[in-house]
Amino acid sequence: PAPGWTTDTDVVVVGSGVAGLTVALNVRQAGLRVLVVTKAMLDDGSTRWAQGGIAAALGEGDTPEQHLADTLVAGVGICDEESVRTLVTEGPGAVRRLIAVGAAFDQDEDGGVLLTREGGHHRNRIAHAGGDATGAEISRALVEAVRRDPDIELIEHALVLDLLADADGHAAGLTLHVMGEGQRDGVGAVRARAVVLATGGMGQVFSATTNPAVSTGDGVALALRAGAEVTDLEFVQFHPTVLWLGPEAEGQQPLVSEAVRGEGAHLVDADGVRFMVGQHELAELAPRDIVAKGITRRMQANGTDHMYLDGRHFGAEMWQRRFPTILASCRAHGIDPVTEPVPIAPAAHYASGGVRTDSRGRTSVPGLYACGEVACTGVHGANRLASNSLLEGLVFAERIAADLTARHTADDLPERTVDVAAARAARPVPLPAPEARAEIQRLMSRGAGVLRSAASIAATAEGLALLAEQTRAAVAEEKPADPRVETWEAANLLLVAGALVTAAGQREETRGCHWREDFPERDDAHWQRHLITTLTASGGPVSTPEEQ
Ligand code: SIN
Repeated sequence: PAPGWTTDTDVVVVGSGVAGLTVALNVRQAGLRVLVVTKAMLDDGSTRWAQGGIAAALGEGDTPEQHLADTLVAGVGICDEESVRTLVTEGPGAVRRLIAVGAAFDQDEDGGVLLTREGGHHRNRIAHAGGDATGAEISRALVEAVRRDPDIELIEHALVLDLLADADGHAAGLTLHVMGEGQRDGVGAVRARAVVLATGGMGQVFSATTNPAVSTGDGVALALRAGAEVTDLEFVQFHPTVLWLGPEAEGQQPLVSEAVRGEGAHLVDADGVRFMVGQHELAELAPRDIVAKGITRRMQANGTDHMYLDGRHFGAEMWQRRFPTILASCRAHGIDPVTEPVPIAPAAHYASGGVRTDSRGRTSVPGLYACGEVACTGVHGANRLASNSLLEGLVFAERIAADLTARHTADDLPERTVDVAAARAARPVPLPAPEARAEIQRLMSRGAGVLRSAASIAATAEGLALLAEQTRAAVAEEKPADPRVETWEAANLLLVAGALVTAAGQREETRGCHWREDFPERDDAHWQRHLITTLTASGGPVSTPEEQ
């Protein structure tokens, strides 16, 4: 349908996690008008579910150089070193500024930030809040700060559809589907001088994930449809320790933070054997891909679908003080970590890839920016280091705001002219039936999950192509699905799943969290580089290796 309403702003930010709200707060300081649009409520994204914390070289004896070294090792040879240097150097200051905004981190006896350890870190450098509720505290502080500023406009329940561009191809706003927000109900458009994507991840492309239901890859789908480059999509991180709730469990699953291992819990099999010992010098605290693989291998060897995390030696007082969220969620599912090992299995957790950006957050489409999980700044490479995600969202959001401010000051951020109705009519998106979501998840988990092969990827690609064909046929027969959140989300999931599988099929090696059964070795000669995925004229994804 043609947009029923339009509104104007200077900068429209899509998403309300740590990245989106940080952009909004910082851009406001430059006197630019800001509109934040978010698909559900302001705090419904992934940020509030983050448990372990935010990594930064804040501790005595720690340095950005050491944080850099750990990040590069975890990223298995394809991190962008300059981006990582930016992350780790600007990180400590960015965390202090977050504290100034109002985020209250757990403190030591002297009032300093209390730091813990997680996988892949050789130092205690993870700041946390409320024990294991770090993301919730960061979200609370940022939401309150945004709500205190009457000049930041907010639209909740607003699903982003497509980018609007002017005649020069510069981002000029976007279209939205808003649910139940009075005058702005239904499909509408926002005209803006710049667009910032901070839409989070795509974990819902798999059956079992730590991501909330809203993480449906909307930003990557929009960017692909807008002609932007996305990169590193094949590197989906599976968190090693997600509470195992049975073979049929689907959707968002409770996380058991890596910080539980950081504080000394052990991974054991059903016989109580610590199987990570001897596999890596850091044992249970090896980088996440190595632990997820160790668990998967042991599950295969023992013919089971879960392992255990044993933290009984913590005792009740420590569980309650240090991990109140995890303790409550385990007990809600009938498991008591104080008296029994917790059943766990890996589940989809984080998209290391995303919309390709430079160090200022600029994508390949002029005027379109991206930060947070939706973006690929190159800091994560083939496997994100634990607790670098909140930090990346924070640091690169500040950099986007700085770039927009500099452009505004230099008169390089003019108003844009766009014919909203024509732009929207030009690019209809075929909408699958809402049931497609479960089918996409089933196909992806079966063939493109922790362990992949050419055959499993091809089977997944075939299933996705069939869904796309059925969708096109329904449109051709004039029986299209209704345009509503569930069908838009299914369209986005189908598109990003197809793009992910295309990249995964192309990368014929095992690196980081991309694990190919048929190419078990890392192949630096051919693959120490990124795959860039775009859409062809016919709308299908194509992945091309970056020039070396
Ligand atoms: C966790 O608490 O284990 C999650 C941390 C992260 O994903 O970085």
